Formats: sequence, structure tokens, C-alpha cells
Amino acid sequence: MSGDQRRVVAEARRVLEGNRQRGLSAWGGRRYDFVCPSPTTYPFQWFWDSAFHAIALLHVDPELAKQEIRCLMQGAQPDGFIPHMILWEKGAHEVALREVQPIWLADPFYTATIQPPVVARAVLRIHEATRDADFVREVLPPIRRFFRWLKAVRDPDDDGLVALIQPDESGLDASPKYDALMGISPESTEETLPELERSMQRLYDAYAPYRSEPARIPALDVFTWEDVMVNAIYADGLRCLAKLVAIAGDPPREADEFSARANRVRHALETKCWDEDRGVFWDLAGWAEKPAQTLTFTSLFPLILEDLDPRKAKRLVDEHLLNEKEFWLPYPIPSVAAGEPAFDPGWRAKTTWRGPTWVNVNWYLYWGLRAHGRADVASHIVDRTVAMIDRSGVREFYDPRTGEGEGAHDFGWTTLVLDLIAAESGGA
Ligand code: GLC
Repeated sequence: MSGDQRRVVAEARRVLEGNRQRGLSAWGGRRYDFVCPSPTTYPFQWFWDSAFHAIALLHVDPELAKQEIRCLMQGAQPDGFIPHMILWEKGAHEVALREVQPIWLADPFYTATIQPPVVARAVLRIHEATRDADFVREVLPPIRRFFRWLKAVRDPDDDGLVALIQPDESGLDASPKYDALMGISPESTEETLPELERSMQRLYDAYAPYRSEPARIPALDVFTWEDVMVNAIYADGLRCLAKLVAIAGDPPREADEFSARANRVRHALETKCWDEDRGVFWDLAGWAEKPAQTLTFTSLFPLILEDLDPRKAKRLVDEHLLNEKEFWLPYPIPSVAAGEPAFDPGWRAKTTWRGPTWVNVNWYLYWGLRAHGRADVASHIVDRTVAMIDRSGVREFYDPRTGEGEGAHDFGWTTLVLDLIAAESGGA
């Protein structure tokens, strides 16, 4: 390991240790023990963050990785729903809670909305590292129910693609791709924050009467969004789920069903979201499924699917990822292409996902690039990721031009760099 890698590994381990939250919650006296995204800005448990933390924790102690998932699964509901946030220490974090508002609560302690289903990939990674099939059998039931819930509640047009009902559900809260539907100007500045909050509140008000019938919400067409990144993660999750079902020793019929569903989602992405002229994928906005043509890293995300048509994968990499006018900046991969009017690498808007580079995106695309025979490009991304963390610390996101750190300090999923470094040394 080189000197900068060693420093980054030590910092990542420090953050995973320092962000750990343990205790007994006022939420029914349940015990919690998990790594939060940031003790000051984000002290709660978030669904996709925890899945990323579990993967990073495999490089510290696999038992901590299992515990992270066990803690998360306490949010799973009998109908299959799993919330995007669990507010374990709600009382102690009133100030942080005001910062993450507006959220839509299903219960005083958890939200009524979801986040990308990274959890199946995380559990498969835990099994690959530990060979612990009992753990898989333990956590599989709520995860399987969640993937069934997604199909039943979030795919009302039955095209294979799941729909989101508000921007935070993708985890890409203020991405400019949502601006038009949210009524936000693309030249967003700090002053647009209240505008965004009002827009979110409008959605929640429209949904309120349907609290007990969540399957009817996407058909309201207030904010119905088939997101390419979310659906690529969903397809990958279904593929992992098929493997987990086999590992648990459950009937092969079910594994076959999840594999077939994974194929169907990938096929839907390739037929409904692919733009042959531009050589990218577009999210589909609204019930009318209008392609949302704002170029963000989302447009490249089906690269994470091994079975993506190799010709499309090649175009994504050669024409876009490696394009210096779009994504190939000094510290890739920016969340928004450099040529977009909304591109805000310096975090001027003070809202997220409008330009800076995030390590969870680099992590996913790293593995996708390797799966598509582009290990050279993947290695370069790790070099630059290590360089920016070494330079600026374990931050929430980074300026893709300079590598300067932005957003929260000591941010949880940036520790995915542990997995990237291990992979580059042949150890993942
Ligand atoms: C921000 C991010 C979201 C993440 C959360 C906690 O809201 O946009 O993706 O889950 O912070 O880290």
C-alpha cells in the first residue's frame, strides 16, 4: 500500500469508529447500533447509507457489517415497506432534524418514503466475505418482502421499472434532473432552498389522504419518476437476491423468479430509457414517461449491470465518461455533466447532487467498469478518489475540478474507499 492509501485507510477507519451510534431508543425500547452518515449533520440511520457502511465495515470487522444490516432491518414493516430513515435518537437531535426537513413520516420514528435498494448487494458482499449462510437466512425475509413490495406498490404501469414519488427517494435529493417537475430554476442558488422545501411540502400534502393506500400514490402523477440509477440498483439487487435465495437453500423457483425480474428491469432500461442518438440513458418523468434530458451520472449508471449490452456500455464509457466536456474532470465522476447549465461543482446552491463528486457513485461505477473490461479506467478513478480524500479528508462530496472537500465532515459512505483500495490490491 502506498503512503497516501495508508493515510486514507486510517482516516476511513477512524470515521467508521467515530460515527457509530449505540443505545436504547425511545422507539419502543429497541436497541440500535449502527454507523451514521455524520454525527452532526446526519445522526440518523439512512437506508442506502447503511448498506454502503456495511460494505466498508467488511474491511474493519465483518461482525459490524452484519450488525449494521440487522439494525436497519428493525425498520422493516409487515407489508414489506422499509423506510428511508429511522430516527433512533430523535429527541437528542432536534436541530439536525430541522436541517433534513421536510420529511414525510409514517411513524414518529421513521419516514414514509424509500431509498435505493442497495441492501441486497450489501448482504451478498457480506456472504462473499464471511460465507455465513445463517446470516443470509436471518436477514433475507424482510429484504425479499421489500423487493416484492417495490413491485406491488411502485410499478403501477407494470413495465418492470419502479417509480419514485419524491426526489429524496433516489438519494439524489436536489439533482437538477428533477428541477422541471419540482418547479426549481436550473440556475439554483442558496435562495432556492425554501422553494425546494415548499415543493416537497406540496407533494406530501397531495399524498396525505393516501397514507393507508400507498399503491395509489404513483397514479396521482404528482411526482412519478422512473429513475435510471434507482432501477439499475434495483436490477442489480434482484440479481443478488436470486443468489441469496439459493444460498439460503430456498426453492430454486424463487431464485428463477428474481433472475427473470432482474432481466426484465434491465430490458426495460435498454428499451425505454436508452437514447440511441445521444448514447445515454434518461430517467422517465411523470405518468407520460417523458425522457428527462439533464445529463447526470445517472445516465451512465446501467454500466453497473454485467449483462448490459456491451455496445451500449462502450458508448457510455467512450463518449461520455471519458469525455472532458462532460464527466472526465480532474477528480471524476461529477454528479452532473460539466456542460449542463445547472453544473455547480463549488456547491453554490448549498443543495446536494448538483455537480460535486461522491464516493458511492465512484464505488458503483468502479465495479461496473471492471465488469465491462475497463479496469484501466476503474483504476484511474480509484487513484483520483484516494488523492481527493488524502487532500481534503473524509468529506460528503468533492469539487471535481480541484478535489476540495464540501458538505459534511467525517462522512460515512466515503469510507467505501476501503473497498476500492482493497479491490485495487486484489483483496476484495
Ligand atoms: C443526503 C443525501 C442522501 C443521503 C443522506 C444521508 O440527504 O442526498 O443520499 O442518504 O444525505 O447521508
